Formats: sequence, structure tokens, C-alpha cells
Amino acid sequence: NLKGTHNRLIGIIVPSFRMPFFADIIQSMQDNAPTDVNLVFLGSTDDNLQNAIYSLVERGAQALIFGKPIPNRAEVNEFLKKRHIPYLVLDQNADINAQDMVQTNEFTGGSLVASHLLSLGHRKIALILPNKLTDNMRQRRAGFLDTLSTANLSPTTIITATLSKHGGLASVHQLIQSESTAAFVLNDEMAIGVLRGLAYQNIKVPADISIAGYDDTDYAEFMIPTLTTVMQPVLEIGKAALNMILRRLDHPNLPFQTAFFDVKLIVRESTGSVK
Ligand code: RIB
Repeated sequence: NLKGTHNRLIGIIVPSFRMPFFADIIQSMQDNAPTDVNLVFLGSTDDNLQNAIYSLVERGAQALIFGKPIPNRAEVNEFLKKRHIPYLVLDQNADINAQDMVQTNEFTGGSLVASHLLSLGHRKIALILPNKLTDNMRQRRAGFLDTLSTANLSPTTIITATLSKHGGLASVHQLIQSESTAAFVLNDEMAIGVLRGLAYQNIKVPADISIAGYDDTDYAEFMIPTLTTVMQPVLEIGKAALNMILRRLDHPNLPFQTAFFDVKLIVRESTGSVK
């Protein structure tokens, strides 16, 4: 700060500022940052992650938080290690065990959706996925498929599309053709697109088809119909990540830390009993 006390600069890389999930994480870090801590956020596509890292390090970042997968991890690891810059991973880096991390119970989340749809009598259930699946989403999918298989079921169709509202919208044609009575859409962002696409086709949710999303972003309860989804405690994730990396800066030799949060099914209007 201006008085010359020790400033800490932390760089945070997320996939996009436009996704409400990451916007909430950013907000919670900002809200919880002590006054002597500066945060620099970058929204980065896969291609320029390396540049994003360099640019944050050049600006003097003393620690980094990654909300997206790190390509060439060995290289990045070495680059940061050499400069004594610790880093933490959250959300999309779920299978990395070699540093501080904040994760949620993705497998349970996927499983909760499957149990819910099964309990409503659905047997023809579609799965709509982003075409680039990150580790955490793989676990989400695994939990869903695992629980479906306990009822001797597999998805009627698996549709892949971009992780966006447009992707959701674009998957609707195939969804309708599959004659599924329910669909699990891997995140709310895509689920919102699916709801819009079904509305264009005059297909009623949940009377004709049930739709479940994932994240419980703040739009979920304002959609028509309101969206059944899995709540990730996104504000706590942001806060925990920030506290953990600050702790790391204060205690560089601590063993690696993990914070693990539970998720919760939020049942709203978009899912109902099979006809
Ligand atoms: O909306 C962003 C999605 O990508 C979330 O499901 C989150 O878990 C992330 O991986």
C-alpha cells in the first residue's frame, strides 16, 4: 500500500469472466482480500495460459491461483518453483494432488442428479456435456453414470456442445430426437441454453421433459421454469482459496493443504415426475 508496508500480489487465472460461476469466485476473493493484498485477475483461453502466467509473474505476483487446467504442468511447475511462487488449484484441476487445492465433491454432485431423476421415474435420461471436459467435470459425469448404472441404465444419448448458453441451445435438436424424458446438463450455463431451445420448440419443462443443471448460479432461481441444479458453495470456495494461498505465503514449508466442500441438490421447477 501507499504507506510502504509489505504488499502481497496474487494472480488469479480463470477460464472466463463471463461465466457466473467464476464471476462469483472472483467477487468472493475480492470481498475477502485483506487490505494489504492486491489481486489481479485474468480470464484466459487455453492458448494463452502461458502468457497469462508470464504476465502475472512479470507484474510481481507472489502466488498464483488457477481456476482452469494447466497445460504443460511440469514446465509451469518448474518455472514457478524456480521463482519461489506457490500456486493453488481449484475447480477444473481436480486430479492434481501435488499442491494446495480447493475442490468440491463432484462425484456426489453428479450422483445426486441421477438419483433425483430416477426417483421421479425417469428411465430415458440424456446427458449433455461440454466438448472439452475438465477433470472435475469428468468426476461429475462419473458420479452421474455410476448412479444410473445402479438402475441398469445408461444415458439415452450423450450430446456434446460448447460450454456456453449457445452450446446448450445447439444441443436441443438432438435432445428432442432422443425422446428422452429428462436430461442432465453438466452446468447451468448450458442448461439455460437448453431451456431456451426447448421453449423455441414449444416443449414444456418439466411436463414434457425434465432438465437439471449444475452450479446453482444466481440465474438458476430466476429462470422460467426455475432450474433444478446442484449447488457448489462458490463464495466459500473463493474465500477458502484466498485464505489458503495467503497462509502458504506466510508458511512456505507447510505440507500441502486441501479444502473439500460438499455440494447440495437444489430441487426447483424444471424437474418433475415422468408422464
Ligand atoms: O460454469 C462453470 C463450470 O465450469 C462449473 O460447473 C465449474 O465447476 C467449472 O468447472
